Amino acid sequence: MKTVADLSVEIGSISLPNPVITASGTTGQSDELRKYVDLSQLGAVVVKSLSPYPWQGNPPPRVHSAGAGMINAVGLQNPGVEAWKKSYLPALRETGARIVASIWGRSVDEYRQAAKQLQGVEGIVALEVNISCPNLEGRGEMFAHSSELTRLAIRASAEANLPIWAKLSPNVTDISKIAFAAIESGAEALTLSNTLMGMVIETSTRRPVLGNGGGGVSGPGVRPVAVRSVYEMREKLADFPIIGVGGISKPEHVIEFIAAGANAIQIGTAHFADPRASKKVLKGLGKWCSKNKITNISTLIGEAHG
Ligand SMILES: Cc1cc2nc3c(=O)[nH]c(=O)nc-3n(C[C@H](O)[C@H](O)[C@H](O)COP(=O)(O)O)c2cc1C
Repeated sequence: MKTVADLSVEIGSISLPNPVITASGTTGQSDELRKYVDLSQLGAVVVKSLSPYPWQGNPPPRVHSAGAGMINAVGLQNPGVEAWKKSYLPALRETGARIVASIWGRSVDEYRQAAKQLQGVEGIVALEVNISCPNLEGRGEMFAHSSELTRLAIRASAEANLPIWAKLSPNVTDISKIAFAAIESGAEALTLSNTLMGMVIETSTRRPVLGNGGGGVSGPGVRPVAVRSVYEMREKLADFPIIGVGGISKPEHVIEFIAAGANAIQIGTAHFADPRASKKVLKGLGKWCSKNKITNISTLIGEAHG
């Protein structure tokens, strides 16, 4: 008889029907994917990062192919939380998706404001706090590159009393220091991780291809980096929820992250090649489990740790 696996996972206080989540910034601000995917079938949908005010982002070009993936410097363009609630959220809510709102800010108070604007809003199951942004109150250091700034941004976001997922940057020497600062400040899950800092130079002009100069590298090339972050954090945290993200486009990649210690995963860049990527990965994951006689996907979490 065919084995039908239980794909449900727990991320802190939230239960998801399966571990496949869309990654922030790669599927739009609302229900843009609806034509291709029944969003209610996914574990959850994370929207593009929102600030407490509208933000234009970086000059073009904003995306380019790079190595085994892409590089982007979109610059966090968004309509601001209030406009998003009015103009984008209703359509997304109609899909029945579990909605995770991603927030960012340029100061601790802006994180607080963005989070408070989302407090008690119907349909939002969690806040993912994107701390890969410069703190303009100091020397422009990224929040995600400092334990102290991470602590402040997460604590301010947690004032909204929503489950907090802290999305960390891989551009640090010791991710565990930042992770522990986030956990101590109220995060109930870690999202590992954001893009890797990089640059592509056009040989005909000898200038960077992106309008911003540098950007964030994503896609297949970053997968081993993210898998290792997940693995290293799972070594240090027996039970804490970890969401893996980086270069996932196949069910086997999901298994790799889960074996490293992820409770759930997110899919980003793969959507640019195929907007149905999340649906296909989810379907393939069920098949992979049946084929391998896995009845409960959670039993695979952390199996790579001998
Ligand atoms: C075009 C683009 C825009 C992104 N925008 C955001 C964003 O607004 N907020 C965020 O937290 N991450 C953002 N990311 C990072 C992704 O959510 C993800 O962490 C990263 O791309 C690694 O996963 P992937 O290789 O599956 O894309 C963006 C990535 C891309 C490619």
